[in-house]
This record gives sequence, C-alpha cells and structure tokens, in this order.
Amino acid sequence: MRFGLTYPMKSGILYGGKAGFKAMQYRLFDIRTIETPGEGYLSFFEGGTELPFEIKRIYYIHGTSAGVMRGGHAHRRQLLFCPYGRIRILLDDGREKAEVLLDSPDKGLLLDSGLWREMLWEQSDSVLCVAASEHYDEADYIRDYDQFLNWCKEAHKE
Ligand code: TYD
Repeated sequence: MRFGLTYPMKSGILYGGKAGFKAMQYRLFDIRTIETPGEGYLSFFEGGTELPFEIKRIYYIHGTSAGVMRGGHAHRRQLLFCPYGRIRILLDDGREKAEVLLDSPDKGLLLDSGLWREMLWEQSDSVLCVAASEHYDEADYIRDYDQFLNWCKEAHKE
C-alpha cells in the first residue's frame, strides 16, 4: 500500500484559497464559469494552480441509473464534478461522515487522500467526472472498510 498522508486529517470545509488544502480533507468550491451569451456557459479549472495537484488522469462514469451506489473505497487526491445530473457524495474519514451534493456543473469537490467515498446517483444518467492526481494503480485503493478504519487509526497517530 503506497498510501501516505503528508498533512493532518481534519474534517470539514476550509476556505483558505488555493493553498488552503493543507489541513483539510474535502473542499467544495465554485468552478470558474463564464457565460457565452446565447450559447450557454463554459467552466474550467487548471491543475497545479487552482487544484493542489497536477492532473494525471481523467475518468468519468455515465449510463448509471438513479438509486445506484458506487464507490466504497479510499485512495488518492481527486477533484470530482458532475457536469450533468445529481449525485450525492458520502465521505468518511474514519471518525466523521459528511455528505456533499453535486447538482450543478459549476461545483467542484476536492478530496484529499485517504477519504472513504461512496457515490449515490440521485438522477439517472448523471455524469460523474474525476480529475485525479495519479495514474490508475489498484495498489492505491483501500476497498475493505475495516482495513480502512485500521489505516485511519495509524494515520491519525501521526
Ligand atoms: P471502481 O473504482 O471500482 O469504480 P467505482 O468506484 O465508481 O464504483 O472501478 C471500476 C473498475 O474500473 C475497476 O475494475 C477498476 C477500473 N478502473 C480502471 O481501470 N482505471 C481507472 O482509472 C478507474 C477509476 C477504474
């Protein structure tokens, strides 16, 4: 397991600007969005400057029916956003739980390493997009909840 925390885990949303990722687990923020009059909106973000990591991978989940729960694992830092639909994100750091609703294309959810997450599709065909700090590596994942709790105990000691 190559998991490692570089800073203390704390629950909650901290608003500290782009450097404010140091002592937090998750942060909901507004993705910069400009109106292109008569033609809709354009939203954008950049890795390394707005995000506290460079983006190494993009993936997205689509074709999912309402009521489906996905996830059930912890891994590396990511930005989640939902360009279409409504998806509830359930977060757990081994001590506290939180819920964040992604229901607008201009909401971004930054997740730190080591957060257990589950995703509930509240609307069919909602699209979940993820910008990840790392290439895919199954060894980065904790998929067993008891193992996750043990990992948290060790991480919280630091
Ligand atoms: P999984 O992480 O279990 O999906 P979810 O958390 O949404 O329920 O991934 C499903 C499958 O896709 C699993 O076999 C791993 C594979 N996968 C990749 O090969 N590359 C990737 O970048 C991701 C995210 C998953």
